[in-house]
Amino acid sequence: MRINRICFVSVLLPFFAAVSSASELESVVENCNGCHGDDGVSQWSDVPTIAGMPEYVHADALYFFRDNERPCSESEYKQGDTSRPATTMCNAVSDLSDDLIDEIAAYYFELPFIAAQQEFDAGLAATGKGVHDAQCDKCHSDGGSNPDDEAGILAGQWMGYLEASFAEYRSGDREQPKSMQDAIDALSDDEVKALVHYYASQQ
Ligand code: HEC
Ligand code: HEC
Repeated sequence: MRINRICFVSVLLPFFAAVSSASELESVVENCNGCHGDDGVSQWSDVPTIAGMPEYVHADALYFFRDNERPCSESEYKQGDTSRPATTMCNAVSDLSDDLIDEIAAYYFELPFIAAQQEFDAGLAATGKGVHDAQCDKCHSDGGSNPDDEAGILAGQWMGYLEASFAEYRSGDREQPKSMQDAIDALSDDEVKALVHYYASQQ
């Protein structure tokens, strides 16, 4: 009798757990897509595309937002833009468990990253490529498009989001890998601008 019970619990519990988290994942992802776009491909310049994002970088980002260690923009929320969920990035993840965060990151990694269609300056993009190749490509290889680097996707990301990221790194508001900081700190404002155009030019 006792043996049977143990069998029941150990065989069926994981099954129930998996079912409940699948529907939980679905409803969370629907909320995410309200801002990040269908299948995680954003249509707003200030919101990054998260489809195809390297899994560990994605999970880390969500932990940082959840634990109030990375700034969240509140501008559209405060202005009452009704085309997006009335919340902020930090609120969207505040209640998520570590397990669910890992599932979300794994889910988006399977979806194709689609480069943003946006205008850029070809001259600035050429300058930016030079800076990137010299200072950034060793960690952000293939022009910043290689998810295997586990360093985010820069190529084809929205300019508004990239500009905000550089500003947060340079002001110290967003934590960055120590090994990257020297390269970021050494950039002039013109080089930052050129880099943003270079990443935007990869469509
Ligand atoms: C209210 C709109 C909104 C919702 C809902 C939202 N996000 Fe975001 N997300 C943003 C914005 C805007 C940013 C850019 C950072 C900032 O300014 O807050 C961002 C940034 C991110 C980043 C950082 C990307 C990077 O390259 O570092 C990740 C990852 C992310 N969101 C994932 C999610 C996931 C997963 C969900 C659902 C649990 C979600 N977001 C829900 C608006 C939203
Ligand atoms: C020593 C390795 C290294 C170097 C050099 C480096 N990076 Fe990074 N970078 C990383 C890693 C790792 C991450 C992921 C950070 C995280 O998980 O928070 C990252 C993240 C970023 C992000 C944020 C991506 C996102 O999704 O929000 C930007 C923007 C960025 N790097 C730009 C640059 C630029 C521009 C240079 C050259 C001037 C550079 N990096 C040089 C390792 C590096």
